[in-house]
Amino acid sequence: MKAWILEKQAKIEEKPLRLAEVLTPHAKDGEIRIKILVCGVCRTDIHIAEGDLPLRKSPLILGHEIVGIVDEVGKDVKNFKVGDKAGVSWLNGTCGKCKYCLSNRENYCPDIKSTGWDEDGGYAEYITISEDTALLLSASGLEPADIAPLLCPGIAGYAAFKLTDAQKGSRLGLYGFGPTAFCVLKVAKSMGIEVYVGTRSPKNMEDAINAGADWAADTSKKQMPCKLDSAIVFPPAGNLVEPALSQVENGGKVVLAPVSSSPIVIENYSENLWGRTIETLYNVKKSEADEFLEIADRLQIIPERGVFPFEELQDVLIAVRHGKAKVANSVIEISAG
Ligand SMILES: NC(=O)c1ccc[n+]([C@@H]2O[C@H](COP(=O)([O-])OP(=O)(O)OC[C@H]3O[C@@H](n4cnc5c(N)ncnc54)[C@H](OP(=O)(O)O)[C@@H]3O)[C@@H](O)[C@H]2O)c1
Ligand SMILES: [Zn+2]
Ligand SMILES: [Zn+2]
Repeated sequence: MKAWILEKQAKIEEKPLRLAEVLTPHAKDGEIRIKILVCGVCRTDIHIAEGDLPLRKSPLILGHEIVGIVDEVGKDVKNFKVGDKAGVSWLNGTCGKCKYCLSNRENYCPDIKSTGWDEDGGYAEYITISEDTALLLSASGLEPADIAPLLCPGIAGYAAFKLTDAQKGSRLGLYGFGPTAFCVLKVAKSMGIEVYVGTRSPKNMEDAINAGADWAADTSKKQMPCKLDSAIVFPPAGNLVEPALSQVENGGKVVLAPVSSSPIVIENYSENLWGRTIETLYNVKKSEADEFLEIADRLQIIPERGVFPFEELQDVLIAVRHGKAKVANSVIEISAG
């Protein structure tokens, strides 16, 4: 099969990926094989390609926002059949035996495996995956290219949102308005939650209001109009944490979504942290992915996205790296079906 492979990490402008012919995988017992239609681009792909994250196998196929059609099922597969629409996200597998896996907290499994990092990902014609981890999408009315961006930002945003415990009538703050916050906003508004967005760029403010936000402004210049019950900080900017805490009422919570962050300093403990909780998002559970995809289908959550040819992957990665992507989410078309 054709696949983009990474053998040696380098700056993305040096084009470290190579389009190569590699062995087509076959579904082992308990696995399915997916003929990939599309794979969405994520900044994490760039972090792996450039060496911000270590290379865990070589050659490696990147990509973890995968949608395709099941074309082979291994022995004992129960929940998928050939022809089903299926997806693969960042979660590629867990040990199934540790205290976390046995208590429905597999997101903390020390042996968690990630798609397009520990295992080959989606910038290829086929992928194999355990049926326990694959996402069944046959019931979804959304287009594959609309589903792909939901598979990383969407799922992660939903998991962060669940950590806030936000309920109907409560006030939720979103700091940063990228693809992840967009999905959270859609879910929160459908539940009757008031949503206040802090974001710097006028385009993001406009997008937030158009997507249903009750208020959007640059919170470094303008304070939110009311106190919040909870908030989520999306960008890896530690300087946003104390302002978010100060906006939250006693008993409230600030959820931190980033996987890395600049230093977090709380200068005024008594005013801004005392009485509040900070919680971090650490990987996402399979059940949260299934739940969110069902909600996204029901609410018709369709992120802004552009579709690009398979051959142009490296140019797309360069554009995303430099903030020059034409759309919020870039999706690579691998097969027309
Ligand atoms: N924990 C997990 O398992 C997991 C999984 C997936 C994703 N994530 C995290 O989810 C987060 C959201 O990702 P995303 O791609 O949707 O958004 P993002 O690009 O990281 O940031 C969202 C927005 O925040 C604003 N922003 C960026 N840097 C900022 C800064 N230094 N100060 C203030 N605002 C800043 C930008 O809007 P303005 O320019 O308009 O301010 C940007 O559009 C990421 O941090 C990612 O690491 C976590
Ligand atoms: Zn991702
Ligand atoms: Zn485990």
